[in-house]
Amino acid sequence: MVVFSELGAGQSNQVNMYYGDRWRLHRKMTHMGVGLQQVRNYRDFQNDESKVVALDLIHNPEEYVKHFERYATSVVSIIGFGRRVSSFMDPIITEVIAVMQRAAELNVPGKTFPMLMESFPFLANFPNWMAPWKHGLGQKGRGRPFFYALAEEAATSASSQQCYAKKIFDEAPKHKLSKMEISSLSGNLFGAGSDTSSSTLVTFVLACCAFPETMMKAWGELDRVVGPHRSPTFQDEPDLPYVKAFVKEVFRWRSVAIIGGQPHAPIKDDRYKGWFIPRNTWVQGNVWAIHHHEREFPEPDRFNPDRYTKGSAESRPFPGEKGYMTFGWGRRVCSGQGLAEQGTFITIARLLWGFKIEKAVDERGKEVGVDIFDFTNGLNMRPNPFKCRITPRNLEIRATIEREGQQALQDLSQYDGETKYRMSTYYATEKL
Ligand code: HEM
Repeated sequence: MVVFSELGAGQSNQVNMYYGDRWRLHRKMTHMGVGLQQVRNYRDFQNDESKVVALDLIHNPEEYVKHFERYATSVVSIIGFGRRVSSFMDPIITEVIAVMQRAAELNVPGKTFPMLMESFPFLANFPNWMAPWKHGLGQKGRGRPFFYALAEEAATSASSQQCYAKKIFDEAPKHKLSKMEISSLSGNLFGAGSDTSSSTLVTFVLACCAFPETMMKAWGELDRVVGPHRSPTFQDEPDLPYVKAFVKEVFRWRSVAIIGGQPHAPIKDDRYKGWFIPRNTWVQGNVWAIHHHEREFPEPDRFNPDRYTKGSAESRPFPGEKGYMTFGWGRRVCSGQGLAEQGTFITIARLLWGFKIEKAVDERGKEVGVDIFDFTNGLNMRPNPFKCRITPRNLEIRATIEREGQQALQDLSQYDGETKYRMSTYYATEKL
């Protein structure tokens, strides 16, 4: 990919890397941060951050998108840098998410002008001063990339918090990791993990507004298993089959990486079902089409968790135990899947338990419809902004959310901290 990869971090970033030893090393390093074994250790603060989301929704429900972005960014920031993100005005969110959304836009070949370089790669060879179409992309030779500086700051801080940045710096000499590689490894937590996770939660809200009957079923289960005096925990998961099915259906109904994320390419000529696929052909898994196939998912645009409840008339055997392919396939499958799945489960379970999520009403009290097809148009997608009403289900639940939220803030205070870096000003001061 010329624009996203060659003019960006290129072969220094796992996401772009060709298959080989260096990619295997990066994959292993990423697993040290967010591998399946690791992410179980993050459950406590992930759970606490999701309690804070519930608290925020009580006080400021209109800003639900920003609460989700803060939550997702804070979780990866604690993992990466040992520091939480307490406000949605923190520049790490406002600036970094904007950059990541722009990157996801750039990732769609042919969509906007810079992508002409994808079709005519020679256009990328012009020096930046005479190539306005490069939009400043591809400047080489910067001192320290932004995420390298953040990681270095965390790794050398006096704080006793263990974090992924420290592990990366411990391993760096052994593997001769370059500054760009260190930057990519730590930055990928944000790049791959914050917009994707928060977009999934926005999709969840849209589904609740458009298909209110599914919420009612979830309430029945949650009231029976959990009750109003505490919110759901990870231990409740086996007893919440409908909520689990709800989460699966969110992943399927509108998968954030609509065409399976980054493109793949065969490393040698291949034949598949009579098709000849030459080496290096761009191959994209059409997740949207797979998840909307009438055979496996009748009425595919209907949000219907019962597709995933065992024994229900609507359930279908779908390839794979999980029942969805939202995180890709094979050896390039998403490195953060475990983290994303457990975080999405606990947050959706808590929000279903705690809130009525309904369509907004106009001045005359009439419900304003939502459009289940109105999504952004990038490599990752999320619903375009829409208004809704998010209110606690009853006073007892509200009191529980307040109590648990305050306790969570106290428990999370060990991760309070500031960074001295701002992305918007960083490169102006950093020596080129
Ligand atoms: C709902 C949340 C998420 C979704 C839907 C998602 C989806 C995906 C998809 C579809 C891919 C491409 C898979 C392929 O090429 O076959 C991918 C790759 C990747 N994801 Fe995620 N992701 C999510 C969250 C995360 C998180 C939280 C992290 C890390 C903290 C992460 C890290 C990565 C990395 C590093 C890759 C590149 C893997 C490689 O090429 O070796 N993702 N993700």
